[in-house]
Amino acid sequence: MPVIEAIKADITQLSVDAIVNAANEGLLGGGGVDGAIHRAAGPQLLEACRPLGGCVTGDAKITAGFDLPATWVVHTVGPVWLGGGAGEAAALASCYRRSLEVASEHQCRSIAFPAISCGAYRYPLEQAARIAVTTLHRALAGDDYWESVLLVAFDDDMLQRYHKQLAKITAAS
Ligand code: APR
Repeated sequence: MPVIEAIKADITQLSVDAIVNAANEGLLGGGGVDGAIHRAAGPQLLEACRPLGGCVTGDAKITAGFDLPATWVVHTVGPVWLGGGAGEAAALASCYRRSLEVASEHQCRSIAFPAISCGAYRYPLEQAARIAVTTLHRALAGDDYWESVLLVAFDDDMLQRYHKQLAKITAAS
């Protein structure tokens, strides 16, 4: 089973097979990591997204990475936090699972995730970190396919939350 690692980085600079974009259902760009990825990939990324017809929350669709060092971009749409009673946890977990599935269909062996829904979508950070780590740990159990699965924090606070959740799951395993 590959080691799930947490790092602090700008995801647009990572030379991995696939980076995951925290997009919106329109898949036509936005702010945050979505904006950063589109800026780094160049205008061809938006052109590649247009024919995809959007993406429902919890699902994922893939495009080339164009000017990014990453070969592919997996666009997933996280849930907007509405207080926890609208299926947000299940939708967030689905983002991680579907992103792995879609990337593996394109023979990716390394993948990097931003903190999906943890910015504009206001997901509580500790709960989001726990969902990311537990979902990936379950999805990768007994797996020898993936070489590298990265959780990419953009600040020290999120990095610490990932490390805390990774330590918990390691202790429990
Ligand atoms: N590299 C890694 N992580 C980043 C980067 C970057 N270059 N830029 C931002 N982040 C982090 C943020 O700090 C946050 O922790 O990505 C996480 C997700 O935040 P958002 O980008 O706001 O994404 P999200 O909360 O899922 O909201 C998605 O915001 O940008 C729009 O078009 C997007 O409508 C969609 C919504």
